Amino acid sequence: MKKLSAALLLLSTAVSAQPFDNSMTEEAIKARLQPVGEVYLAGQAAAADAAPAGPRSGEQVYQASCFACHGSGALGAPKTAADWEPRIAQGFDTMLDHAINGFNAMPPRGTCMDCSDDEIKAAIEFMIK
Ligand code: HEC
Repeated sequence: MKKLSAALLLLSTAVSAQPFDNSMTEEAIKARLQPVGEVYLAGQAAAADAAPAGPRSGEQVYQASCFACHGSGALGAPKTAADWEPRIAQGFDTMLDHAINGFNAMPPRGTCMDCSDDEIKAAIEFMIK
């Protein structure tokens, strides 16, 4: 019985000592929560590394921003050469204007809000060739 109470005494001291342990102070906890390095979401670092130094090619813009609709014909987006024919017939300037400003279900700049007019133009040229 003596041994058991000694063990219980030890245990209770250990437990009651816990809140005063330096490792549990607010500062210590905050310090532990500090990020060791910068945290990147998956792909974020890669995207920053790949930040374009110059204008993106028509193919790059197409793959990144236009393919979602124009690669599948989603929402009635022109996809095939036959789809493009009547649109090409109305003139490139009209198509460019519609691509930049939006046209029905075609969103302005095809959702590529940081695309320059030239990049949009290159993407159209890539799509219709
Ligand atoms: C959210 C889907 C979607 C995305 C993304 C999209 N488009 Fe479109 N686009 C459409 C649809 C739908 C049409 C057909 C609109 C209509 O004729 O009613 C269209 C039509 C066009 C046309 C023809 C306009 C005309 O005058 O007939 C061009 C050019 C065009 N898109 C370029 C682009 C480019 C360039 C991109 C990428 C930068 C892009 N689109 C991204 C849906 C999309």
